Amino acid sequence: MSDYIPGFGNHVSTEAMAGALPVGQNAPQRPAFGLYTEQLSGTAFTAPRHENRRSWLYRMRPTADHPPYTRYEWAKRFAPGTVDQPLAPNRLRWDPLPLPQAPVDLIDGMTTMMANREPASLEGVALHIYAATKDMHGRVFVDADGELLFIPEQGRLELFTELGRIEVSPGQIALVPRGVRFRALLPDGSARGYVAENHGSLFRLPDLGPIGANGLANPRDFETPVAWFEDRDDPCEVVQKFLGSLWTTTLDHSPLDVVAWHGNLTPWRYDLDRFNTINTVSFDHPDPSIFTLLTSPSTVPGRANADVVIFPPRWMVAEHSFRPPWFHRNVMSEAMGLIRGAYDAKAEGFAPGGLSLHNMMSGHGPDVASWKAASEADLAPHKIEGTMAFMVESCWPYTPTAYALDRAQPDYDAAWADFPKARLPG
Ligand SMILES: [Fe+2]
Repeated sequence: MSDYIPGFGNHVSTEAMAGALPVGQNAPQRPAFGLYTEQLSGTAFTAPRHENRRSWLYRMRPTADHPPYTRYEWAKRFAPGTVDQPLAPNRLRWDPLPLPQAPVDLIDGMTTMMANREPASLEGVALHIYAATKDMHGRVFVDADGELLFIPEQGRLELFTELGRIEVSPGQIALVPRGVRFRALLPDGSARGYVAENHGSLFRLPDLGPIGANGLANPRDFETPVAWFEDRDDPCEVVQKFLGSLWTTTLDHSPLDVVAWHGNLTPWRYDLDRFNTINTVSFDHPDPSIFTLLTSPSTVPGRANADVVIFPPRWMVAEHSFRPPWFHRNVMSEAMGLIRGAYDAKAEGFAPGGLSLHNMMSGHGPDVASWKAASEADLAPHKIEGTMAFMVESCWPYTPTAYALDRAQPDYDAAWADFPKARLPG
């Protein structure tokens, strides 16, 4: 569908028409073909060089040329804000959302499940689930509130962005930077999955520490699309998320008209099967930070605004150890989803497309069935196959939306009921 350029955070130069990209400068007096020059900044102008991300776009019309925005009222479950009553410290879990019966595109098929912090604080993350049955026609979406990480669970997405076209399948993830307009098509007719909306510092690859120079998600496995554009003078609605609300305006042309661009603020996709999973070869279950794929640091060293962590297929070889995740209470807050298979700490009730929330200091861990099985298992090496779970862990506790809170499973606490009491000697 599209060509891709390998690498994470590279300075890419790409043109969909020969001669469209200026050479040796960013803003020539008269760009080729009468194109308009536009800088898209993902970090402040003065961000340190190693964190600075921006791209230069050469487009058929400037983004500045648009009518006023008015409120967009149709997507009732997208960005409604979170509940404002006190939130009980309960663990929460949700069944997958059903696909809509009527034709619904990605924008109107988006349900916000939880969020932390306000977008204007430039911190925090929101989690949405999309369930769509129709291509976006004659309109695009753009998020001014953050970058969007798509995590498909079923059905492919084709993301036609200002900076190129990305096809992403379940088992892959894709990122659309803050401010980049895009249209989503559903080549399989329907699609469902998760979106992590990051309001904070841009996702980057985590430091590797003693692991060394290689491992986990390797930079070369990220793929950025080459430049692509459409020359269409039909009406095109732009739906924008801004400060937690949705807004709409209509252009007389497609804004996907960037003929060439260069820079290091880019969309990308990544195949989760390329993740070089690292784990114990001796004993005990390491902290799940060993599975970190992406991180958005906060201002406190080591305390992430958002870590994206995956739990891929892997060999389990730990000796004399309880191999699943241990019981724990975490100062960080954990939202988890499941892309395929089963998660090794939950025997049932956590289906692909479902979601769970273990907020700050909530006790959790394996359910009774998983604990019993792992406690009695023969500790021969065995491979966990056919699974892919993920977690978006944040230092900011999450608050569900009213829609999500009303639909949480009523009996999730039962997962940890009926553990036998320890038997003390004498
Ligand atoms: Fe946990």
